[in-house]
Amino acid sequence: MTWTPSPMPCATPNSSTPRIVLGVAGGIAAYKSVELLRLLREKGYHVAPVLTPDATRFVGTVTFSALASEPARTSLYGDPTTPIPHTYLGSNATLIVVAPATAHLIARYAMGLADDLLTATLLATRAPVLLCPTMHTEMWEQPSVQENLATLRRRGVLVLEPDVGHLAGGDEGAGRLPEAATIAELVEKIVGGYRGALTGTRVLISAGGTREVIDPVRVLTNRSSGRQGYALAEVACRMGASVTLVSTVEGTLSLDTVSAIDVVQVETAAELHEAMMKRTLESDCVIMAAAVADFTPRASAKKLKKRDGPPELHLEPTPDVLADLVAHRPKGQIIVGFAAETNDVIENALVKLREKGVDLLVVNDVATPGAGFAHATNEVVILDRHAEPERVTLRSKEAISWEILARVAALLPQGAQ
Ligand code: CTP
Repeated sequence: MTWTPSPMPCATPNSSTPRIVLGVAGGIAAYKSVELLRLLREKGYHVAPVLTPDATRFVGTVTFSALASEPARTSLYGDPTTPIPHTYLGSNATLIVVAPATAHLIARYAMGLADDLLTATLLATRAPVLLCPTMHTEMWEQPSVQENLATLRRRGVLVLEPDVGHLAGGDEGAGRLPEAATIAELVEKIVGGYRGALTGTRVLISAGGTREVIDPVRVLTNRSSGRQGYALAEVACRMGASVTLVSTVEGTLSLDTVSAIDVVQVETAAELHEAMMKRTLESDCVIMAAAVADFTPRASAKKLKKRDGPPELHLEPTPDVLADLVAHRPKGQIIVGFAAETNDVIENALVKLREKGVDLLVVNDVATPGAGFAHATNEVVILDRHAEPERVTLRSKEAISWEILARVAALLPQGAQ
């Protein structure tokens, strides 16, 4: 059987036609990507299949070529019409979807390897990438696989979680390739600009501990590192939100997606208050992860001298930023507060949830080992006025952020997404 050009020949795709590179890795679910290819073609996309050498053990290239807009490719070498196929495919792609994405393909992509046409194409593109991981449950649950996916997510790769159900080994569990129609629908959304559950929302986040000025040299501050707020900003950005981060942290934390996040530098509670109030009306969601000082001294313009003895600091209350945000909230805005507690954690936090009028309150027991201030990990309880408290056990601040922001996405009115 020879390849029959389908209605959209490879040489002359309409320039406005979305171009999808369909990557197929070597797993038994490779046969299902034939159906996905058919559905993508039905939607009018120009589809160029790229199979790894192992994928061809499961499905022949002829089948893909017969349905695709271009012949299926399997190698970086030997195609006289496209001598540099990975850059041709990568730079022309509107989207690359890899279905199935095996554990091996995911690991190679996370490592930045380019040892076949598919991985080379993944590196040679600026287009969005959607991975559909498919494997046995034991493999799916391996920390190595999950860490590779976390790395790729951090770099902006979209991941469609596998379905739970019957697997090829006769067992049941997570690891099935979702239905081709589900993948095709997601592809259509991504082509239309969707980048995650917060696409189209504007999220305002505060991070870090405020520093209250005693004199030009000395400050009163707290133990907050800003890590949780930064992780929230990164994850919100990866979920498609446009993010403004009001931060007291200078230079000690970095953002992978820094160019996409608008960072506003502040130092004191008063500055943080002003920065947040200036931006709240145009935000769909506000997250107060900053540890704001409750009291501030009257600042001395000159350095206090030791020889004058210990100064008497007269402390005055700072503005309650969260209370002001709640008082001025626009309709439909979701407000998330944080609570740092050391004792009677849930009881105190339930009182705070009621009194502060927030939609979600994320409670940190800062006395828990590995949680709270300055740690890379955190353990929290998410309180919702309309749901049971949810404990999110010890994990990275990034993983905690996914949990919090998934709750935010579920609360947002549909129109914002
Ligand atoms: N917060 C604020 N402005 C302040 C103090 C706190 O916006 N002046 C915010 C924090 O960012 C957090 C929430 O209020 O989202 C709760 O902060 P927390 O320190 O736990 O509670 P407080 O209201 O300060 O009460 P207390 O210190 O007595 O527990």
